[in-house]
Amino acid sequence: MENVKAVVLAAGRGVRMRSELAKVLHPLLGRPILEYVLRSLRAAGVEDILVVVGHQADRVRKVAEGCRFVVQEDPKGTGHALALCEPALAGFAGDLFVLAGDAPFLGAGTLRRMLREHREAGRDATFLSGELEDPTGYGRVLRDPRTGRFVRFAEEADAGPEEKAVRECNASHYVFRAPAIFEALREVRPDNRKGELYLTDAVGILAARGRPVEACRSSDPAEIRGINTRRDLAEAAALLRRRILEGHLAAGVTVVDPSTTYIEEDVTIGADTVILPFTVIRRGVTIGRGCEVGPFSHLRSGTVLEDGAEVGNFVEVKNSRIGRGTKAKHLTYLGDAVLGEKVNIGAGTITANYDGKRKHPTVLEDGVHIGANTTLVAPVRVGKGAETGAGAVVTKGEVPPGALLVGVPARPIRRSARPEEGKA
Ligand code: UD1
Ligand code: CA
Repeated sequence: MENVKAVVLAAGRGVRMRSELAKVLHPLLGRPILEYVLRSLRAAGVEDILVVVGHQADRVRKVAEGCRFVVQEDPKGTGHALALCEPALAGFAGDLFVLAGDAPFLGAGTLRRMLREHREAGRDATFLSGELEDPTGYGRVLRDPRTGRFVRFAEEADAGPEEKAVRECNASHYVFRAPAIFEALREVRPDNRKGELYLTDAVGILAARGRPVEACRSSDPAEIRGINTRRDLAEAAALLRRRILEGHLAAGVTVVDPSTTYIEEDVTIGADTVILPFTVIRRGVTIGRGCEVGPFSHLRSGTVLEDGAEVGNFVEVKNSRIGRGTKAKHLTYLGDAVLGEKVNIGAGTITANYDGKRKHPTVLEDGVHIGANTTLVAPVRVGKGAETGAGAVVTKGEVPPGALLVGVPARPIRRSARPEEGKA
């Protein structure tokens, strides 16, 4: 996008969360709230992003890698936060997005629409607004009853009963002509209940001067609401989860019970795969076609299931590749492992991949048969068609193709065989 920059307000502590952790750092489906806003901005093509940091600034900086930062030591309101950005934007006369950092549902499409409407109408300010069933807590949009034109915002703390009855709410996402908003901010005074410098007042000042200011309307309440409380966070997670599941259902995946299936973003699942109840699939997992996952499976980041693989109850898989038609159906941990085709993993198998300092790989070649309750002490490679007996603890790094190992520590009772014989 040409001639556009952004400011994300993220200095507040988020008192209503009742948390030590800054609000924008709270994870929503495994990702900090702030990251959603930054992703949408980048997806909309905004490159220069300033983040106003304050509470837990160092941790916020880590989440917002690649952005510029402005420190607000003592948060005195949204207007104060934006005013602090003026030096960092000196000489910039283009359009400036100003977004609240607590808005995970604000999509790139809406950002583009806000900017388009703003530019087409040649405005000084465009704000995102929408009607909420329960507008409590939000800034209300006050309009001239005759003309319907925007007059100013009334914040919850300062609003009278008539103003509180207004259902059109300010989402706290704006596009400004940069010089116009910085100029208006100089006029803002903290003459309100909270004693804060309200960014919303600066928008009212522009309107009072007859400058072009209007709303970009959204019909999606989630986009307007942002996150203020733990309850909002839980509701946002439920909504996001449902949207993700709907995407997979539409793509031909069977999700037997969406209400007990937890799938994060950035998960790919092939058609005709069946996800059974009580399954957790974290971001960065790829599942092929015709697989079966669950009930009670936990697939973590870096896991790939090739077509027709099956993972069953109480199986955790992390950063592992599970080959075509391979099965791990019960009570198993597979970490940093590569499993070939048609491998069978007995109940209770564990890859002991961590020695307390480093993670080590496990490789199980095609047709390997791992007996129940085997421990594979990594690094270990089990050759094609080899087998382990029940309860084996494999400590030897290399198991030749076709061998059969038993006992603790595991010893070969058959040194090798051709893979076909090994897989009797
Ligand atoms: C704000 C708007 C309100 C709108 C609502 C939508 C104002 C005065 N009010 O209220 O009209 O309906 O958002 O959610 O703007 N922040 C700072 N520094 C500060 C204060 C806030 O960086 O000094 C950041 C917060 O971290 C947050 C964002 O600004 O990400 C919004 O602040 P918040 O306190 O949530 O504003 P609301 O009271 O919700
Ligand atoms: Ca808010």
